[in-house]
Amino acid sequence: MRKGLFSKLIVTFSVIIAVSFVIVASFLSYWFDSYSFNQRKQDLLKETQFLGPAAVKYIEGDISSEKLEDTIGSIAGYLSADIWLVDSYGYVFAVSREDDKALIGNQLLTTELEELRAGGNIEKKGDYNGYFEMPVHTFEVPVFDGDTFQCVIIMHTSMADIKGPLESVFEIIWLSALLAIILSSVVIYFVSQRVLIKPLQEINYAADRIAKGEVDKRVVIKAKDEIGELAESFNSMADALEEVENKRREFISNVSHEIRSPITSIKGFIGGILDGVVPKEKHNYYLTIAYEEIQRLTRLVNDLLDLSAIESGQFRLRIEEVDINEIIRQTVIRFEPKVMKRKVKVDVLLQGEKLMVAGDKDRLTQVITNLLDNSMKYVPVSGNINIKTVIKGSKAVVTIFNDGPHIPEAEIKNIWDRFYKADKARSSKVSTGLGLSIVRSILTQLGEDVWVENKEPKGVVFTFTLKMV
Ligand SMILES: Nc1ncnc2c1ncn2[C@@H]1O[C@H](COP(=O)(O)OP(=O)(O)O)[C@@H](O)[C@H]1O
Ligand SMILES: [Mg+2]
Repeated sequence: MRKGLFSKLIVTFSVIIAVSFVIVASFLSYWFDSYSFNQRKQDLLKETQFLGPAAVKYIEGDISSEKLEDTIGSIAGYLSADIWLVDSYGYVFAVSREDDKALIGNQLLTTELEELRAGGNIEKKGDYNGYFEMPVHTFEVPVFDGDTFQCVIIMHTSMADIKGPLESVFEIIWLSALLAIILSSVVIYFVSQRVLIKPLQEINYAADRIAKGEVDKRVVIKAKDEIGELAESFNSMADALEEVENKRREFISNVSHEIRSPITSIKGFIGGILDGVVPKEKHNYYLTIAYEEIQRLTRLVNDLLDLSAIESGQFRLRIEEVDINEIIRQTVIRFEPKVMKRKVKVDVLLQGEKLMVAGDKDRLTQVITNLLDNSMKYVPVSGNINIKTVIKGSKAVVTIFNDGPHIPEAEIKNIWDRFYKADKARSSKVSTGLGLSIVRSILTQLGEDVWVENKEPKGVVFTFTLKMV
């Protein structure tokens, strides 16, 4: 298995479990240690009640040394301890184990006698001044006859004997820790598969498919957690991608379509002339139409180039102080021939003499031209066009109104889309459907707004804002 989420989870959990078991084990061992040593002490103390009188009897000559050895031997056997008896001067006079016989007659206790004589017990852990090879627990208890200090009982128990049960407890602890690790691994495996790994794999797979072009791929994860949220964001990202992809396809098909129809007719006319199908006197007529088509193509290509340049941001807008009133005046003058032809009444109402705004002169001229071009297209013969600039706060607001038919509410959203032409039949000859896209792209790049409203009883008004300087 690769170093995935699962193995990381397992390692983390195992460490947590192991650490908690170590803590439990150390507490338990501490507690068990003191408990079992206390227990041992109680047992030993209890037995001294029998041993003490027997030792006194021996010292007083009431029982033989065999009898005494018998008594210590059986008690030592019962306690599984080594028992030595030491007289009031510190000399050993009886031992429970055959091997320790050499000690008899030796002085074992010196300094400690003081404390024992005063009635205190002495407890030690270790190898008893090197006498034992293994560590032992030693317990020294004085014996009194009435008030007279008679002798000392020394009992050694091997530590291993005391710790024996503790070791098996540790075994149980470690076994259960191991069991807990195995068990939690299984649980973690299934849980992490369900809540983490499977959903992530699904998202990963979908991302891979989308990257390979299947933009309609989605993930179905209903979880109400962070993974669910991730899946949701992923899906909305995929939606956005799909939309972009669809727009791109639509754009390409639109462009091809727009280019194909003029080329087809140009080809038809010129082919007819070359074939001689078109009589000579009609040549001029058809060449004029072909020329118009070529002009339309040129316009289309120019619009497309502008649009793609503006949208890719490659078109660095030259932001400078420009007089929007002056731009409007000059543009209106350029429309003079069309105005005369359609007998349109153009009203221009400008705020002040100059209205300085931040913008790119050529691009703003393009905005006004495109909007005025539309107005001129949709205004009825002898209709009205009103152009106004006003100041609102820190903004200059430009409105261009023309009377004429309303834009249907259902279409008002779409008119900004590339190639969108509401009235396809009427506008197809002269329009590309790119004019408003260009307007909006330019104003968006300037960080400004543009919107459209229908006016009652008739007419359409386009409004956009500019920053004043
Ligand atoms: N002043 C207007 N009055 C009515 N409809 C308009 C007006 N300006 C734009 N439109 C609608 O918006 C559509 C898109 O306009 P535009 O992008 O300039 O493309 P085009 O002018 O080439 O048709 C037009 O086809 C038209 O339906
Ligand atoms: Mg237009």
